[in-house]
Amino acid sequence: MNRLPKIPWYEITPENMYLNRRQLMVGAGAALSLAALAACGAEPPAAPAAPAAAPAAAGESAPPTATPDSREPAASTATDELGDPLNSFEQITNYNNFYEFSTDKESVAKIAANFPVSPWTVTVGGLVDNPTTYDMDDIRKMFEVEERIYRLRCVEAWSMVIPWMGFPLGKLLAAAGPQSGANYVRFQTANDTENMPGLRSAWYSWPYTEGLRMDEAMNDLAIISTGLYGKDLLPQSGAPLRLVVPWKYGFKSIKSIVSIELVAEQPNSLWMDAAPNEYGFYANVNPDVNHPRWSQASERRIGESGRRATLPFNGYAEQVAHLYDGMDLSKNF
Ligand code: MTE
Repeated sequence: MNRLPKIPWYEITPENMYLNRRQLMVGAGAALSLAALAACGAEPPAAPAAPAAAPAAAGESAPPTATPDSREPAASTATDELGDPLNSFEQITNYNNFYEFSTDKESVAKIAANFPVSPWTVTVGGLVDNPTTYDMDDIRKMFEVEERIYRLRCVEAWSMVIPWMGFPLGKLLAAAGPQSGANYVRFQTANDTENMPGLRSAWYSWPYTEGLRMDEAMNDLAIISTGLYGKDLLPQSGAPLRLVVPWKYGFKSIKSIVSIELVAEQPNSLWMDAAPNEYGFYANVNPDVNHPRWSQASERRIGESGRRATLPFNGYAEQVAHLYDGMDLSKNF
């Protein structure tokens, strides 16, 4: 059975049509609007159930700034393939983990607001036949963007459902011509000390890095995202391009990428360096393997009260469980 996400009603709708349709809906269907609000919730997200994973960066105490973006798309009645409603644009862009800016999730949007994301280049290199430096125009021309509605499950035990715009990471890697010795992919975030105040924190081995095994990276579910809700990514969401790997804990989905390198050996990530007993290389969502400091059996969906059961591989087992055949996932956490 194919359980890939269903295509929602606003896919491939030009922005002006998307907004016009939204206005029409608002004018014509009060009942529909109420249903949409009920589905997506309107209360601000509560604090995560779990304690922060590591000591907080120095120097942040700004109050939450959940100011809705004026470009915020309407609440949607679309769902993911499990029938879960989407989180709202406001929720997705005002409750963020992006330690280069702040460890306070509700301050990231404000602190990152003026982060310069254009011009931007990303290099694809290492063990490849065609090392390339792309700017965002190249990326937009070469890789057709599609919508993928994915659940994002943070290691801190909160989750959201997000309508990403993006393209398969495998297409970008294939264009680079991987060499036979390329077993892993290493990703790196911008190291912009001028514009990313969180980089002053000495707790972490900046820049933020992450890695995937080559077959994980080539799996169709792994995407490079450039937008959400039909809009370009905002800085707090990892503009102008980020990884999204929905079957892994959210920290694998590295933001604001400047370098993608194919390598022979398993790369270390920032989190593996920070707390090797707590964060492994694989980081597959797994309700049966607890974090040393909290349970991973359940999660809090942002906008919902109560908790829901966490699914193995975040509900994507059918597409990815085979990648780990024969592996002990309690050891390869
Ligand atoms: N990427 C970078 N560069 N820096 C970060 O702090 N946080 C990660 C991940 N990518 C992070 C990052 C974590 S812990 C999570 S849960 C997700 O981004 C959160 O993505 P979101 O803020 O878009 O929901």
